[in-house]
Amino acid sequence: MKLSIVILAAGQGKRMKSDLPKVLQPLAGKPLLAHVIDTARTLAPTSMHVVYGHGGERVRATLAETLAAAAPVTSWALQAEQLGTGHAVQQALPALADDELALVLYGDVPLVRAETLRQLIASASDPAQGEAMGLLTVMLDDPTGYGRILRDPQGRVQAIVEQKDATDAERAIREGNTGVMAVPVRHLRRWLGRLRNANAQGEYYLTDIIAMAVADGVRVAPLVAPTVAEVLGINDKLQLAEVEAEHRRLRARELMLAGVTLVDPARLDVRGELLVGRDVEIDVNVIFEGRVTLGDRVRIGPHCIIRDCTIAADARINAHSVLEESSVGAGAIVGPFARLRPGAKLAAEVHIGNFVEIKNSVMGEGAKANHLAYVGDASVGARANIGAGTIVANYDGANKHHTDIGADAHTGSNSVLVAPVTIGAGATVGAGSTITKDVAPGALAVARGRQVAIDGWKRPTKTPKK
Ligand code: UD1
Ligand code: CA
Repeated sequence: MKLSIVILAAGQGKRMKSDLPKVLQPLAGKPLLAHVIDTARTLAPTSMHVVYGHGGERVRATLAETLAAAAPVTSWALQAEQLGTGHAVQQALPALADDELALVLYGDVPLVRAETLRQLIASASDPAQGEAMGLLTVMLDDPTGYGRILRDPQGRVQAIVEQKDATDAERAIREGNTGVMAVPVRHLRRWLGRLRNANAQGEYYLTDIIAMAVADGVRVAPLVAPTVAEVLGINDKLQLAEVEAEHRRLRARELMLAGVTLVDPARLDVRGELLVGRDVEIDVNVIFEGRVTLGDRVRIGPHCIIRDCTIAADARINAHSVLEESSVGAGAIVGPFARLRPGAKLAAEVHIGNFVEIKNSVMGEGAKANHLAYVGDASVGARANIGAGTIVANYDGANKHHTDIGADAHTGSNSVLVAPVTIGAGATVGAGSTITKDVAPGALAVARGRQVAIDGWKRPTKTPKK
């Protein structure tokens, strides 16, 4: 059966006490709803529909930005008034076709795994078993707040009763409704049309369709979620932090199982995609964002932030370095306290030391900038040495200009290279020089006041007060 996914995201999230709509609250740097959409798209559905309400336009706009070009959402259905989960699904019905299976997900349950959803879909669409709908449940130590799963003595699911409508005996049931279900659309349409809101909350409960399925002889195929963690819903900042911690644990676990050495799995944040080679080592309090690739034997020191970078084999990033949209060549050493800004491209064996900033520049193989330097909009040749305190003055206050530093060139300490300018291969710039004209290959350029010595010079003495 063709698969359509409906994501419920209209809830207000009052308990967040935030101006940001709940489904836009960030988990691992990405809106909650984007996590759900990203998982949903891996199921390759025919269509995907998001039911939105609170912060409507903002939710759509933010998601369009986050999910960029390959926006997988087929339609956005507005639920102007939040009259319940059943009413929410109704808003997406016009976009669904009768020959489809609808998978209902929640925008505030971000860790649900594609594998679990696949199992649920499979159990609902086993042709040998006849017509069925799938229901994802969870065994809870404390089921407070959840709808309870009512089963008959044979273990067949009969209905769901919401906490507020449940008797004491029903409240003692520990099997809760996750909210996730897979329902053939032609039945869903019929059942939703029959919902009534005569219940404790005066809402149209999606959960009421379970009893309808049973009454209509449509099999309800329950699947108990393998872990509680993956179906955790988020209502407040406390739960947001708990789910963030769970996400952190999961990512750390994946990395360790892939062979990465983590000094402390609880002190690593992966906010995006991290691809790793063999024998990678990561020290504490490192944050990865966007898409980062680490080659074999890469070592990352403590307190580094690395966003959208490629780091080749045997490179070493030392403590407190911040790298963004950069590439680091094999065997290179960066930091401590280095900053690579967008467009920094370091070839193999480059050394970047403390308080060095590189932006939109290529550093050739074996080139070095070991202390206190700024290299912007430049090409630096192989083995060139950027002295301590060298500044590439790339910006004239209006425009940026390019600087070329040839292979094996050396710039002295505290020199300023005023762009556009070319330092030839093997040339040397004397310490303290302000270079405004090209330097020929192999030449020494010195551009500073000559040192003079005045023999017998007398220091002024203090005039005595009258
Ligand atoms: C719901 C389930 C409950 C389940 C629990 C799991 C119903 C009636 N109850 O309860 O059985 O154990 O989730 O967390 O389905 N939403 C809308 N529009 C609405 C109402 C809700 O889009 O009018 C969305 C919310 O944004 C959220 C989801 O539906 O993503 C669940 O809503 P919520 O109010 O949190 O559900 P509960 O009452 O907790
Ligand atoms: Ca509710």
